[in-house]
Amino acid sequence: MITMRSSYLKNSRAISTTLAKVVFMSALITTLSLHHALQAKTVEWPADSVQWRSSELAGYALAQQKCSTCHSAHYAEYQPPNAGTGYWKAQVLRMKTVFKAPITDDEVQSVVDYLSQTYGSSRK
Ligand code: HEC
Repeated sequence: MITMRSSYLKNSRAISTTLAKVVFMSALITTLSLHHALQAKTVEWPADSVQWRSSELAGYALAQQKCSTCHSAHYAEYQPPNAGTGYWKAQVLRMKTVFKAPITDDEVQSVVDYLSQTYGSSRK
C-alpha cells in the first residue's frame, strides 16, 4: 500500500514536471512566433521624397503644407495626365473625408486648380 502510494506520488510529480515543460515550451514557441510575426510586419512605403511640382498658384503652398503631412507628391505623379478638375476634386475630397486631410472647403478648390493645372489635363 505504501509502495503504491509512493509510486503514485512519483508518477504525479513526473506528470507535473512534464506539464511544466509543455507549458514552458508552448510559451517559448508563442513568444518566438510573435516575435517573428512582428518582424514580418515591416511595411514598404513609397519613395517619400518626391516634391510637389512648383507653381505660381496658391494651391502649390497648400499642397506642400496640407498634403505632405501624410505623403509626398509621389501619388500625384502617378495619376493619369489627362485627369481633369472633376477627377482631382474627387481625389482631394477623398483625402479630406476618408483620411481627414486638414484642408478647408475653401482650400479644396485652390488645391484642385493647382493639381489639374500642374499634373492634369489643364496643364499649359
Ligand atoms: C491624413 C493623411 C493624408 C493626407 C493629409 C493626404 N493624403 Fe493623399 N493619401 C493618403 C493615403 C493613406 C493614401 C493611399 C491610400 C489610398 O489611396 O486610398 C493617399 C493617396 C493619395 C493619392 C493616390 C490615390 C490613387 O487612387 O492612386 C493621391 C492622388 C493623393 N493621396 C493626393 C492627396 C492630396 C492632393 C492631398 C492634399 C489635399 C492629400 N493626398 C493629403 C493619405 C493622405
